[in-house]
Amino acid sequence: MRIAHVALVTGGAAGIGRAIALRLARDGIAVGVLDLVEDAAAAVADEIAGFGGAAVALSGDIARRDTIAQAVERLRETLGPIAILVNNAGISDYVPFMDMTDAQWDRMMEVNLKGTFIVTQTVLPDMIDARW
Ligand SMILES: NC(=O)c1ccc[n+]([C@@H]2O[C@H](COP(=O)([O-])OP(=O)(O)OC[C@H]3O[C@@H](n4cnc5c(N)ncnc54)[C@H](O)[C@@H]3O)[C@@H](O)[C@H]2O)c1
Repeated sequence: MRIAHVALVTGGAAGIGRAIALRLARDGIAVGVLDLVEDAAAAVADEIAGFGGAAVALSGDIARRDTIAQAVERLRETLGPIAILVNNAGISDYVPFMDMTDAQWDRMMEVNLKGTFIVTQTVLPDMIDARW
C-alpha cells in the first residue's frame, strides 16, 4: 500500500479514536496509534497491519509532555514527519455538576485542554516545515 501521509491519532486504542485510526489506514495513511493503554494501541496497530496498512503503537499520556515528546519522536523515526493530527483523546466524568470534585475537574482540564495543547505544540513543527 502506498503511504500518502503520516497521522497521529491520540486515544487511538478505543472508541472513536480506534475507528478514525482504522479509517485513515484504509485510506493509505500511515498511523501512529497513541494511547495510555499500550496493549490496546498495539492491538489496533496489528489490526491495521493485518489489512496491509502501516501503523505503529505508541504509549503516552497526552497530559505529560515527556511521554508525548518520546512518542512523537518514535513516530517520526519509524514512519516519517507527521502531516495529520487527530486530537481525539479525552475524558469526561459524567457526574452531576454539583457533585464534581476539584480533582475530577483538574484531571479533565489537564487531559482535555492541556493535553491537546501539548500534543499540538509537539507535532506542529513537522507541519510548519512541510508548509502543510
Ligand atoms: N462518545 C461520545 O459520545 C463523545 C461525545 C463527546 C465527546 N467525546 C470525546 O471524543 C473522544 C473519544 O471518545 P470515545 O467515546 O471514543 O472515548 P473512549 O473513552 O472510548 O476512548 C478514549 C481513548 O482515549 C484514551 N485516553 C484517555 N486519556 C488519555 C490520555 N491522557 N492520554 C492518552 N490517551 C488517553 C483512552 O485510554 C481510550 O483508549 C474523547 O475526547 C471524548 O471526550 C465523545
